[in-house]
Amino acid sequence: MTYSFAGFQLTSPIINAPMPKAWYADGMKLIADQPVGAVVTKSVTLHAREGNESPREYYDAARSLNAVGLANDGVLAHLGYVETLAEYTDKPIIMNVSAFSVAEYAEVFENAMSAPQVDIVEVNLSCPNTEAQVFAENPELIEDVLLALAPIREKYKKPMGIKVNPCTNLAKIRQIVEVLVRHNVDFVTATNTLGNCRLLKPDGEPVIKANGGYGGMAGAAILPLALSTVSLYRKAIDELKSDMAIVGVGGVTTGADVQAHLNAGATVVGMASVIMHEGYDALGRVSKEWEEINA
Ligand SMILES: Cc1cc2nc3c(=O)[nH]c(=O)nc-3n(C[C@H](O)[C@H](O)[C@H](O)COP(=O)(O)O)c2cc1C
Repeated sequence: MTYSFAGFQLTSPIINAPMPKAWYADGMKLIADQPVGAVVTKSVTLHAREGNESPREYYDAARSLNAVGLANDGVLAHLGYVETLAEYTDKPIIMNVSAFSVAEYAEVFENAMSAPQVDIVEVNLSCPNTEAQVFAENPELIEDVLLALAPIREKYKKPMGIKVNPCTNLAKIRQIVEVLVRHNVDFVTATNTLGNCRLLKPDGEPVIKANGGYGGMAGAAILPLALSTVSLYRKAIDELKSDMAIVGVGGVTTGADVQAHLNAGATVVGMASVIMHEGYDALGRVSKEWEEINA
């Protein structure tokens, strides 16, 4: 059985989502060893970034909070890591790119698109943990980016998607989907973390030091929010009679959660926090649970 996604036939509808364990080649190889349909990199930017001060990540079984701040080694270094991964696996490789201006999105996108070791590019317009504006919250900014990417897409003709924020406002989602469909975006990834959340220890100290203790929340706690976001995106996409795919991400910690995302309208399903909390084997456990549900 294969699962059709962005022109590729995946061996599973389960994939990882960008997170620090998808940084170096060794980590991405460990992901490829799991029964995933594709491997997704963490977000890479044009130039290397240190990100925010530590501690900047918190995990427990119920939720995660992070303000990593797009730490990475710069796109050229990451293309090297991905080249090593591509020699190791036949699974499609999705490179996630991020930036701070329209011009920078275009430049980093071209770096990724032009690389033979990259099969698909996911454009992260939704990182809530940096000084930059969150492009995905504004349909006009999304369109500005897509207009700048259009000639590059035309040149390299690889599938691309846009990663958006959690949203429960159908009117806003309709506006975003109208832009994405008009620009023939292959998929939308819903969703990134819920920005500017806060968790305090009993003594009143925030659990992360970065960004004044404010960070993006994810993990099991956001499953209902992610399912709502995916369902509303599916509704808006269907209303326009588009076949745009959805990567459902957010709150997945069990096989039943994968099935819930698929039922909500996701084409494939990704996960991040559970891998950070449990380790790479979480992908195998969740896949096995999902297969048992569908046996
Ligand atoms: C520590 C951490 C770092 C993340 N870094 C990125 C990133 O670089 N790019 C991105 O698009 N999403 C990033 N995310 C968001 C995840 O890919 C995912 O969208 C979100 O965490 C919801 O999924 P989850 O509930 O399975 O964690 C990060 C999440 C975590 C927990």
